Amino acid sequence: MPQTPSYDRWVVRGGARLVGEVTVSGAKNSVLKLLAATLLAPGRSVLTNVPDIADVRIMGELLQSLGAELHHDAAAGVVTVDVPELVGDVAEYDLVRRIRGSFVVLGPLLARRGRARVGLPGGDAIGSRQIDLHLAGMALLGAEVSVEHGYVVATSGNLVGAPIWLDIPSVMATENLLLASVLAKGTTVIDNAAREPEVADLAHMLVAMGAQIDGIGTSTLTIEGVEGLRPCEHATVPDRIVAGTFAVGAAMTLGDVTVRDARAEHLDMPLTKLAEAGAQVDLLPDGFRVRADRRPTAVDVSTLYYPGFPTDLQPLAIALLAISEGSAMLTENVFDGRFQFVDELVRLGADAHVNGHHVMVRGRPQLSSAPVQVGDIRAGAALILAGLVADGVTEVYDAGHIERGYAGFDAQLRSLGADVTRR
Ligand code: EPU
Repeated sequence: MPQTPSYDRWVVRGGARLVGEVTVSGAKNSVLKLLAATLLAPGRSVLTNVPDIADVRIMGELLQSLGAELHHDAAAGVVTVDVPELVGDVAEYDLVRRIRGSFVVLGPLLARRGRARVGLPGGDAIGSRQIDLHLAGMALLGAEVSVEHGYVVATSGNLVGAPIWLDIPSVMATENLLLASVLAKGTTVIDNAAREPEVADLAHMLVAMGAQIDGIGTSTLTIEGVEGLRPCEHATVPDRIVAGTFAVGAAMTLGDVTVRDARAEHLDMPLTKLAEAGAQVDLLPDGFRVRADRRPTAVDVSTLYYPGFPTDLQPLAIALLAISEGSAMLTENVFDGRFQFVDELVRLGADAHVNGHHVMVRGRPQLSSAPVQVGDIRAGAALILAGLVADGVTEVYDAGHIERGYAGFDAQLRSLGADVTRR
């Protein structure tokens, strides 16, 4: 797969309004799971609308290590995966630790091989991230599961369908269990399943491969196991978080941005919040337009599982509140440590105070430039937007994180009139 260099320091000159049009490509959090799904069927699967991001390249390396051949046409956004009859059964820690999304190979490997050894993913800069629900679900499907020397080791012989109730509607637990149960014998019902559009996208691809799944997009997924699946061609669902990032950027910079190839219905809550904050939001057949002609008004935001306000847009929402008129409370209900970047925003002059899983933000008319550091993808995007509304030049260190989830973010921002360069 092609490698693009990573630039770790981005330099943002504040003051520009974001004006113009951008096109959004496929969702990171979908395509990583779609790539894992290809392992379920020997032969050639083709994924389109694939974003040109670092995480796709790392997931590609993992699939190759399991015996698949990959061809990635980054310019066309197409990945072709040739999956052999016999896939490997070990996902090495060194690859899994680099992207957490890769942990969803557990389901397909168990389903295809009856056994799997997958590196245990670690915590990260957004808080502790358990995998107990993945493992408990696999055990209900008949696998013997243990954690040994930093690896999840699972053996199953044949998986057998079962009722599974998830304590939390975890996105990747739902996906891992979907990926395992489509080839299990009999019926699996996943209750309290995640309803995120990326989960539905995976389910739709599995159906195109021959799986039988009812209740797609709802919190009860019923899977009737089938004997075998066939490869397919599938277009990745548009990235709602990237689309939402540009929406917030338009509101913050008093700009006017049209976002194309996006699904506004996947952003109901964030777009409603932006409208409450005073932005003009127009829905279009292939996306939406957000414009603002006055400083946003502060609005309270609480993150929640879909269709609630997405936790992945939480840092962007805090950046918006930092320059809004008035005070508001942001409550994070999904992850326990996703406020680490707030200190960086404070370095840019934001008046924000963390208290447990709440942040109290008192808006200021403008932020002031400072060197800041990025801890994760979404915090990175938020700090870049904050730099756009700061006076002077903001240097954003460790900005390589952004390239894990945003394809050509700097170029897209420049096309909208921002002064952003990678060094
Ligand atoms: N949880 C458990 N046990 C489990 C699994 C999850 O307690 O076995 C808890 C987590 O600790 C967390 C909550 O459940 O508090 C929700 O986590 P979830 O499992 O839904 O998150 P995830 O599947 O690990 C995906 C995305 C994240 C996104 C979350 C929530 C991928 C690769 N990652 O993670 O994306 O924030 O869903 O929507 O799909 C990002 O893109 O920047 C990102 C972090």
